[in-house]
Amino acid sequence: MMSQPAEAVRRSASIVATGAYLPSRVMTNADLEKIIDTSDEWILTRTGIRERRIADEGELTSDMGARAAEQALQQSGIDPKSIDLIIVATCTPDTVFPSTACHIQHKIGATRAAAFDLQAACSGFLYALVTAEQFVAAGAYQTVLVIGAEKLSSIINWQDRNTCVLFGDGAGAVILQHRPGARGLLAYDLGADGAQTEILSLPAGGCRMPITHQVLDERLHFLQMSGKEVYRYAVSAMNRSAENCLEKAGCKPEDLRWIVPHQANFRIIEAVAQRLNVSMEHFIINLDRYGNTSSACLPIALHETSMAGNLKQGDLILMVAFGGGLTWASTVLEW
Ligand code: UT7
Repeated sequence: MMSQPAEAVRRSASIVATGAYLPSRVMTNADLEKIIDTSDEWILTRTGIRERRIADEGELTSDMGARAAEQALQQSGIDPKSIDLIIVATCTPDTVFPSTACHIQHKIGATRAAAFDLQAACSGFLYALVTAEQFVAAGAYQTVLVIGAEKLSSIINWQDRNTCVLFGDGAGAVILQHRPGARGLLAYDLGADGAQTEILSLPAGGCRMPITHQVLDERLHFLQMSGKEVYRYAVSAMNRSAENCLEKAGCKPEDLRWIVPHQANFRIIEAVAQRLNVSMEHFIINLDRYGNTSSACLPIALHETSMAGNLKQGDLILMVAFGGGLTWASTVLEW
């Protein structure tokens, strides 16, 4: 029989490496003006988005996730064979099963790793990060690879101007390990409201509505969103979650060096900044270049900030996300 210590000691879990991958093809607002009834002015003033990246037809979510992961591995010198677990947050998996995590495990040669996908829409990366932290904190695993990867262009209705201007493709990755002396992830807040499943969803493709000719004709195999309702919910849920998380971490908004918010809409981010009373200078924003890449937004933004040399040891970082489900999530970590 295994003996349990009287009081289990939780180890801290730190992000020790980051990576990102963006497809090379740029789609500007001017490009969208050519295919639907929209304008650069409308998109820019309502969302803040100028352009987004679109993957090639044969470029899969797992390809992008693997490229982001390889960058994190190279940066840290970690051998893929030492990865214990891969968690991929995605709502655009290569296949319903096997998981995109299994495809990535093979592509990067992480032959020892357990692998699974996690689905919490745009909040997926933070749900995955918090899940990964449990394994490291418990001492069960040494090295966990967490990826947010999306090929949203594959589920976008390119005839629907309400949604097609908002999203883009890409991937980001982080590696989580216990780093002696570092505090790492300090607190998290996760939440969901399953009464609101209808306002942001992909209706067909699951057992509820298998793909049929009628489904394809009605374009129900594409993402649908009631933008205004989601907008209103996002502002209040992101604020509540951020405040809960800060309280759990014992921090105040003014202690934060960086806030990495979900990159859906510049106006949502401004509203969050206002309610938290934090200057926009502390917010990391890249939605102007990539649009909303769902679960990939946060690790891409984190990687770019790290590469620019703007993350210093000891910096307190709040990440806050919101998405379909509805779901929301926040973390506070010390870099
Ligand atoms: O990642 C998951 C979380 N997602 C979000 O957080 C997204 C939340 N929602 C939003 O960001 C905003 O609601 C949108 C950007 C989606 C829309 O902005 P809005 O200010 O809420 O606009 P609206 O939906 O109320 O539409 C206003 C008008 C409508 O015309 P009418 O009915 O007033 O004549 C739309 O038909 O703008 C029209 N419209 C467009 N016009 C030009 C909608 N999309 C477009 C477009 N180009 N692409």
